[in-house]
Amino acid sequence: MISRRNFLIDAAVALGVAGTGRAGRGWTSDETPPPIEGKDGMIVRSYRFLDLEMPPEFATSWITPLPHFFVRNHMFEPTSLDRASWQLTVSGEVAKPLTFKLPDLAALEQHSVTNTLECAGNGRGFHNPKVPGAQWQRGAVGTGRFSGPRLADILKRAGVNPKGKHVMFRGLDEVPGKVPPFIRSIPIEKAIDPDTLVATHMNGGELPKHHGFPARILVPGWVGAASCKWVTEIKVLEKEFEGNFMKPGYRLPNQPVAPGGTVNPDETHAVTALTVKSIIATPGEGTQVGKHSIQVRGAAWAGEADVVKVDVSTDGGTTWMPAVLGKEHARYAWRLWSYAWKPDRAGDFTIMSRATDSQGRVQPDLAVWNPSGYLYNAIDRVNVHVQG
Ligand code: MTE
Repeated sequence: MISRRNFLIDAAVALGVAGTGRAGRGWTSDETPPPIEGKDGMIVRSYRFLDLEMPPEFATSWITPLPHFFVRNHMFEPTSLDRASWQLTVSGEVAKPLTFKLPDLAALEQHSVTNTLECAGNGRGFHNPKVPGAQWQRGAVGTGRFSGPRLADILKRAGVNPKGKHVMFRGLDEVPGKVPPFIRSIPIEKAIDPDTLVATHMNGGELPKHHGFPARILVPGWVGAASCKWVTEIKVLEKEFEGNFMKPGYRLPNQPVAPGGTVNPDETHAVTALTVKSIIATPGEGTQVGKHSIQVRGAAWAGEADVVKVDVSTDGGTTWMPAVLGKEHARYAWRLWSYAWKPDRAGDFTIMSRATDSQGRVQPDLAVWNPSGYLYNAIDRVNVHVQG
């Protein structure tokens, strides 16, 4: 058992808490929360283990600055990550097992992908009935520019055997007690996609520690859980990996389930690509706005598909008007959008946003309920008061 004192110290160390005094003494919930290195103005969903949500007003920047990029950790971040001793092994169903050091990765052809990374549980806090787990609202999502060698090039060097159908990744997380290690797998087709990376850089700089330094997998368009941080092992398998974070974790029911119901784990499948979704960044929930022209702004994304339009309603969904989509776009990245609204009266309003994608999917009025609260994507709603 971990003692309370050790737990607090471990948590402070894992956080990279600034200030030696605090780090030595830990943190208790009746104190002001300690600052988290490299992060600014975030909603702390959990300290143990670090889960940081981006406040929605930051979804107005096409590339999310690192201080505002959400963090989702299942356990402690590695305490020692040394660029000289770090290595990445490739084994399993391959002709030639290989080991890569950081300079070996840098010597391979580099590729960049601008990707909207969203946690499968983003929006879980809006599900009704409630489901256990981090109660994320809008901001377990962000868009980053990730760079590094293609996973396909690494696998090609190792030579995947015909039996190799899935590719497994293991992170260097520090695993407390009986928590199983963070290991997940993706099908070979997605692993060899030219946009799937072993990313060593993010937003033009070295990958920060919270986001997987020195290397993470980047599986564009898929739920964040597919993109293993602090990766140290790649293994080619005949079958989908079956550990905790693949089964029962990160699965969706094969058939619709009544809200509040249970599902047999054998009647589920791994969650993969993201769905169509928009969020309202500003104005914020419960804010007071003047009766002048108001810019309603937000972001919309659709995983492997493209956002084709975003509609906005200011009358509770009776009428919808098209929002203007931002100029910046890239496959797998969100589109910013805006709508100039001139309220015709004072009073209470519900602003709604609804995205449509290139696969014809439309953000639904109600998200599909599932026991883990994954892929919440209901039409976004924000209540505001227009002053007279
Ligand atoms: N990789 C490791 N090794 N350990 C983790 O806990 N969390 C996953 C994924 N990769 C995780 C991981 C989940 S659930 C998400 S949503 C993303 O990382 C979050 O990435 P970020 O923290 O860089 O935003």
